[in-house]
Amino acid sequence: MPANLTTEHLWMPFTANRQFKNKPRMLVSASGMHYTSDDGRQVLDGTAGLWCVNAGHGHPKITEAIRRQAGQMDFAPLFQMGHPGAFESASALAAIAPEGLNRVFFCNDGSEAVDTALKIAVAWQRMRGDSLRTRLIGRERAYHGVGFGGIAVGGIAGNRKHFGPTLAGVDHLRHPLDIARNAFSRGLPDHGAEIADEFEQRLLALHDPSTVAALIVEPVQGSTGVILPPKGYLQKLRAICDKHGILLIFDEVITGFGRLGAPFAADYFGVVPDMITCAKGLTNAAVPMGAVIVRQDIYDDFMRTAPEDSIEFYHGYTYSGHPLASAAMVATMDVYREEQIFERAAAMAPYFEEAAHSLRGLPWVKDIRNLGLICGIELESVPGKPTARAFDVFLKCFWDKGVLIRTTGDIIALSPPLIIDRAQVDQLFGAIADILKAQSATPQQMATPA
Ligand SMILES: Cc1ncc(COP(=O)(O)O)c(C=O)c1O
Repeated sequence: MPANLTTEHLWMPFTANRQFKNKPRMLVSASGMHYTSDDGRQVLDGTAGLWCVNAGHGHPKITEAIRRQAGQMDFAPLFQMGHPGAFESASALAAIAPEGLNRVFFCNDGSEAVDTALKIAVAWQRMRGDSLRTRLIGRERAYHGVGFGGIAVGGIAGNRKHFGPTLAGVDHLRHPLDIARNAFSRGLPDHGAEIADEFEQRLLALHDPSTVAALIVEPVQGSTGVILPPKGYLQKLRAICDKHGILLIFDEVITGFGRLGAPFAADYFGVVPDMITCAKGLTNAAVPMGAVIVRQDIYDDFMRTAPEDSIEFYHGYTYSGHPLASAAMVATMDVYREEQIFERAAAMAPYFEEAAHSLRGLPWVKDIRNLGLICGIELESVPGKPTARAFDVFLKCFWDKGVLIRTTGDIIALSPPLIIDRAQVDQLFGAIADILKAQSATPQQMATPA
């Protein structure tokens, strides 16, 4: 770390600040599959930054598009004004979205996309005369960002418990993780589709469908430690929503843009929601941007119902459709298409799965879950010290192996850039395997956790 740099002023997000500042882990440049650390080491990126740099770091085409736009026009508002880039980028996104979802509302990240989608859902129901439908349903262990809407429908206790009652009128469906029946499944688990029935049998029976505006789910739950939908589960949720006039929102902030080898998880599963929230890979993370992709007739209902020449939806962000983000986004879509990034992910997925499951039988490994280029490795916790074991692996991966992984609780979550090659897959899983073996040989040498 440069001698004149102080870490004291920055309050770091989702970080054990004191632990980090004792021994900072600094990244100073990035290219392709690698970061460079401040001590000059190459660090293999096993997490695509934070599930977002799908085409690899520093893609020259994206960088150049941002540079060009910055030189031409830094900012223009989208409130009662427009600029071509925002319209062009909306069309580029609609072009790869599932059929029927072709109206785009821009924001700046996944949290804003979620709050925007929830507001569209409630406002749309009201617009159609269903003003009783205000209830929002999420799932236990869901992660939908950090806005008050997102934490309300989210289901991770640590993200909720400090912040009061959040939104009223929210309920949660049980999550479908079932290690007892599904441990070490390859791809989608066989057991648990019936958990979707509880949406109708318990929650709708309790609240009555006529009070429910929308159900929001991550098709694959990522941040909570990789929870996969059992076979047939998402199809059941779709059918229940259809039956009861409830909007289905897929939060595709991590599954969008090729993570499963298809443009969206909706394509992968063949289940089309009414809205998709996305961010992260939308611009390959080069400039912050989020979006809600909406079924055309939902948009049309707003246009038809609001009084002539009035604002139809009282919502928006100063930086909605920011020119730099728009430029980055259009270039990113070009890169995904020209370099067949989604197809590359699909082609690599079987090798990635094989490598992931080669860790089965290693010390502490109690489950391995994978789909596309996502893998969750769940470890036995150290008694009385939850998170310690996985965090130790994270630290040793970074310091000793030159590999960046991510952990949540005692689960290692891997989501590399979609350009990863076989040797890098081997390096990633090999590093984790080596550390687990060493940890079991000398458990007293585990690093101090957060
Ligand atoms: C499914 C999902 N939704 C929303 C978010 C929040 O996105 P952001 O951190 O860009 O606000 C995330 C972030 O990881 C996510 O995984």
